[in-house]
Amino acid sequence: FFSATAKTDLTGKKILITAGPTQEAIDPVRYIGNRSSGKMGYTLAAECRNRGADVVLILGPAPEILKEDLSGMTVIKVTSAEEMYNACINHFSTTDIALMAAAVADYRPEQVSTEKIKKEKGAPELHLVKTKDILARLGHLKTDRQIVLGFALETHNEASNALEKLRKKNADYIVMNSLNDGAAFGADTNKITIYSKDGAQFPFESKPKTAVARDIIDTILKTGFPAI
Ligand code: CTP
Ligand code: CA
Repeated sequence: FFSATAKTDLTGKKILITAGPTQEAIDPVRYIGNRSSGKMGYTLAAECRNRGADVVLILGPAPEILKEDLSGMTVIKVTSAEEMYNACINHFSTTDIALMAAAVADYRPEQVSTEKIKKEKGAPELHLVKTKDILARLGHLKTDRQIVLGFALETHNEASNALEKLRKKNADYIVMNSLNDGAAFGADTNKITIYSKDGAQFPFESKPKTAVARDIIDTILKTGFPAI
C-alpha cells in the first residue's frame, strides 16, 4: 500500500530500465562479461516504482539484485546483449521513459562453440564482433513523446566523451559517472553530471545511489517537457 505522503508523480508512466552486465557465450560453460552489480539500474527501478510508475526492468545476470525487493515491477531476466536488445524492442513502443543503466558487453564471440572448448587443442582464437547498441537503437526509434537516457563512465575527456555519446546515440540525457572521487563500479556513492540534448548540464555532489536515482528522475520531470 501507499501512505498518504507517498509520491505518485510517475503514475501512468511506463518506464523501461536496463540493468546489470550481459554475458556473451564462448562455449556452453564460458562467457565474456563484466563486473557490473546492477545496483544503479535496480535503484532507479525501485525509485520509479515507489513513485507510481509501471516499471519494466530488463536485468542481466546480477545475482545480488535478485535478493532485492522486486515487488511491483516486471522483471525480465536476460543473459546476452542480443536478448537484452530484443526485450527492449518488445517493450519500447509503449514506453514513456527508457533508462539504460546496463553495462552491456561491447563485443561477443562471432561463433559460439556448441561443445566445451578443450585446452588440448591450444588456446582458441576468439573472433569478436560488436554487439547491438541498445541505447543508440532506442534513441533513433524514439518519438517526441518518449525520453531516452543513457549512462557514460569515462576516465578521460569526461565532458566531451559524454556529449559525443549523447549526440551519436540521439539520447535526451546522458548521466556521466565521475571516477574523480573514487565512486565507481560497486561503490555505494556516485558523483554524476547530467547532460541534456539541449545543451544544459546538471552537476551533482557525490551521494548515495538512492539519492542519485531521485536526482535523475527529478531532472527528467523538470526538464523533459514537452515529451513528458
Ligand atoms: N549501451 C547499450 N548497448 C550497448 C552498449 C552500451 O545500450 N551495446 C548503453 C549503456 O547502457 C549506457 C550507454 O550505452 O547507457 C553508454 O555505454 P558506454 O559503455 O559508456 O558507451 P559505449 O557506447 O559502449 O562506448 P565505450 O564503451 O567505447 O565508451
Ligand atoms: Ca561500452
